[in-house]
Amino acid sequence: MTPRKHKIRAAFSAAAATYEAHGPVQELTADAFAHRLKALPVRGRALELGCGTGFFTRRMVDDRRPWVISDLSPEMLEVCRASLPPLSNLSFRVVDGESPDVEGPFGLICANLAVQWFEKPKVSLSRLADLLEPGGCLALTTFGADTYPDWSLPTRSAYEGCFPLGGELTLEEERFPIIYPTLRDFLTAVKRIGAGTRAAERPRLTTAQMRSRLEASPTPYPVTYQVFTALWIKQ
Ligand SMILES: C[S@@+](CC[C@H](N)C(=O)[O-])C[C@H]1O[C@@H](n2cnc3c(N)ncnc32)[C@H](O)[C@@H]1O
Repeated sequence: MTPRKHKIRAAFSAAAATYEAHGPVQELTADAFAHRLKALPVRGRALELGCGTGFFTRRMVDDRRPWVISDLSPEMLEVCRASLPPLSNLSFRVVDGESPDVEGPFGLICANLAVQWFEKPKVSLSRLADLLEPGGCLALTTFGADTYPDWSLPTRSAYEGCFPLGGELTLEEERFPIIYPTLRDFLTAVKRIGAGTRAAERPRLTTAQMRSRLEASPTPYPVTYQVFTALWIKQ
């Protein structure tokens, strides 16, 4: 595991207890995504990556299919497990979604707002596609580039380019506007959900740079989260 991935895991682990109180967009996205997925005629076992505390998981696992529920962070996984009834169709694993040591095939591999943390998304999505049965679905939401400039998120075409050949891709976009009292409140919320690890290529702001950014920012501070929902069906 790379040093940055260790940091990502540590930050999410430290936020396992505060995540749900500070993740309104994650919950809204989980709701819309689960609604979308439940309308699909997907069969077979399911694998969820990056389950976090279970916003999306809780909306999905009442379908009786066998589910492997996983996260990079053991602490997140444990909060998720504790939030679910003890259903016999559920198993829980600590898994790095970029090198998943799980036995396929799956009819569904899904993740709500986790793949933006992948270091090599194109390679990783190709590995995930290998774990799908023919006709299986890779269903992944991510934040898009318009969300917050410091986060180095993908544009629509960059995200499309991460999916392998040999499948049919549908990509939809939604925007979720959230008003924070101040920029500082937004940055605090980001930390409380564990998402404060800087993008690899972004240098840390100096104290003076951060102070002037905070002073120049509007109050209240609006953030419009751009969310891409990708459904890729393997041929
Ligand atoms: C923003 S949270 C989303 C959690 C959850 N899916 C939800 O709907 O609220 C991102 C989650 O992805 C996990 N994560 C980050 N990198 C990962 C990776 N490489 N493999 C698996 N999970 C990862 C984090 O530990 C965290 O729980």
